[in-house]
Amino acid sequence: MCGIFAYVLCNFPKERKHILEVLFNGLRRLEYRGYDSAGISIDYEPCNATKASGGLKDLAISRPPLVFRQSGKIEKLVTTVYQEVDETELDLEVTFPNHVGIAHTRWATHGPPSPKNSHPQSSGEGNEFLVVHNGIITNYMVLKETLLRHGFTFESDTDTEVIPKLAKFVYDKLSEEINSMKQSGGEALSFHQVVMEVVRQLEGAYALIFKSPHYPNELVACKRGSPLLIGVKSPGCPAKDVKEDADVKDGFSTLKDSGSRKELFLASDASALVEHTKRVMIIEDDEVVHVKDGSVSIFKFDPTKNLGGLRRPASVQRALSTLDMEVEQIKKGNYDHFMQKEIYEQPESLRTTLRGRLIPGDESKVKGVLLGGLKAHLRTIRRSRRILFIGCGTSFHAALATRPLVEELSEVPVTMEIASDFLDRRAPIYREDTAVFVSQSGETADTLQALEYAKSHGALCVGITNTVGSAISRGTDCGVHINAGCEIGVASTKAYTSQIAVMTMLALAIGEDAISTRARREAIIDGLLDLPGVVKEVLKLDEKMKELAATLMEEQSLLLFGRGYNYATALEGALKVKELALMHSEGILAGEMKHGPLALVDETLPIIVIATRDSTCSKQQSVIQQLQARKGRLIVMCAKGDAAIMCPNGASYVIEVPHIQDCLQPIINIIPLQLLAYHLTVLRGFNVDQPRNLAKSVTTE
Ligand code: F6R
Repeated sequence: MCGIFAYVLCNFPKERKHILEVLFNGLRRLEYRGYDSAGISIDYEPCNATKASGGLKDLAISRPPLVFRQSGKIEKLVTTVYQEVDETELDLEVTFPNHVGIAHTRWATHGPPSPKNSHPQSSGEGNEFLVVHNGIITNYMVLKETLLRHGFTFESDTDTEVIPKLAKFVYDKLSEEINSMKQSGGEALSFHQVVMEVVRQLEGAYALIFKSPHYPNELVACKRGSPLLIGVKSPGCPAKDVKEDADVKDGFSTLKDSGSRKELFLASDASALVEHTKRVMIIEDDEVVHVKDGSVSIFKFDPTKNLGGLRRPASVQRALSTLDMEVEQIKKGNYDHFMQKEIYEQPESLRTTLRGRLIPGDESKVKGVLLGGLKAHLRTIRRSRRILFIGCGTSFHAALATRPLVEELSEVPVTMEIASDFLDRRAPIYREDTAVFVSQSGETADTLQALEYAKSHGALCVGITNTVGSAISRGTDCGVHINAGCEIGVASTKAYTSQIAVMTMLALAIGEDAISTRARREAIIDGLLDLPGVVKEVLKLDEKMKELAATLMEEQSLLLFGRGYNYATALEGALKVKELALMHSEGILAGEMKHGPLALVDETLPIIVIATRDSTCSKQQSVIQQLQARKGRLIVMCAKGDAAIMCPNGASYVIEVPHIQDCLQPIINIIPLQLLAYHLTVLRGFNVDQPRNLAKSVTTE
């Protein structure tokens, strides 16, 4: 969904142009989270200069922060800002020793894309409080009504606008109280106290960053549900140095490394931080971060308790950790699109997924798998009365592709649950169940809520995510990271294949005690060892898929028939085509063909039949024959050398793929379909990396 970003200079003079570029770049990195509008806020002039000319507070207020908001892509905002900067004759050379800049890229939920609905949202005239928000405030209507009654007027259709307005309301009210207390020696009202009082009244999910001219050069951020990270960069500190803890000083947990020169970056995810620093702090739910005078303070608070606004909350210590990400991962390199790069990365991403987890076996050691994060829980999983796979979209498909193997090797019944449907039904789940949550981002709202629900019913919760430190990886009892590397293309590709590889290893680990399946498990492990090489081979089909795409680019619709392990391949191939090429496409369980879909078949509608070698192959052969008998326009995917057997009467197109163990075949089979969707999208002239109306991390229900 939305991406939020902030750049804080602490005693570190930089030009306004530099600040703008850092903010724009932060947004460019986060654009995949939402790309229908964007905005930033910076200060008018250095606050030191303001101070020198006397009356910090008054002058800051008289020269409120600048706010730029624009619908459309980031580059449109960039153009607007530079035009406006010229117009308002801002001096690009002015240096800011201290400065807080905030930025936002939006995926619209409340109100269409427009400048007024873009963030930062403002408290009103003077921009006394500015807020960027990722998430949804579910009680905003109630808050809005209250604020309207207090004389506030609203400009936007967003849920977010209540937040800065509420901040102003709280600030005015608490300031009054403080002023009366000051006469009796009370303390000044701090920025984090205002924010805590605000968030106490919010329901829903959020990551928020606040900026205010009442607190020049200070920033407050907080989160519940939506992710938020802080990157720390100070001169002389190598990017990889992580051994520093936060220290508590005067109620503030201050970074020990400080020296006072520092740059801080706050972002919804690591991709916006890694080019600046690898030293990060992960912010937890119900924590408020206050950046002031170069120190970073984190306060834990209970949103259900009335703080009274003025009490000092408990501060917490937070160690810096290191991002396991390289700058190259967030760049396209020689590829035209991130999706293309990510498709081509699959031999390597799979190698990383498997690294250190396969035991090849020798005279002294049995072949097996090693999943450190699950070791202590394998017994419980084996004894479960049921395993539930829960996820959305592509992650759900990945789980579906591995369901037959998990059932086969564990002999535990496996049920599949789309997270939203699971929640809609409030489906029964018990403490004897194991629930496996599959999510690339680890922050999908539906999956996260399903996790909370399963936890509250006592089920063992296992997480399979690509994002270390994500809400799902932290909220589950145990789990496995897929280590596919950062995925920026909105349509998931390499995460899908790595998810299948991990869940295959999960099946092997659950079944590792059974003597009867040992040969089968060893064959699969051999297959996993070969996998990166086979993926490399199947990528050679790229040109053929481009040719096929050229023949399909004018079509209205495309069907894909699969079954067994490759029912998921049909669903996932269809999802890629529809979300990227904006062409209607449907994945159909081939066994259901005669129960309805066959009526659609004629000479014009293209149908891809997945008929690679496995126990369902002969059934797919007869599906092909039945389709041919109705003059269906068939594209057949089969194992290399099988074309003559699988489609003796010929097909309009044959995709021959390398053969591998049946349960690993979905990893191979999806790759030509990813390439097909990619080329169809390019040929049809649509945006490959940012499909219409979509965003990478769906952090709202
Ligand atoms: C489609 C796609 C989505 C995601 C879904 C779940 O290409 O990427 O269907 O798979 O939104 O996201 P995660 O895996 O992050 O939970």
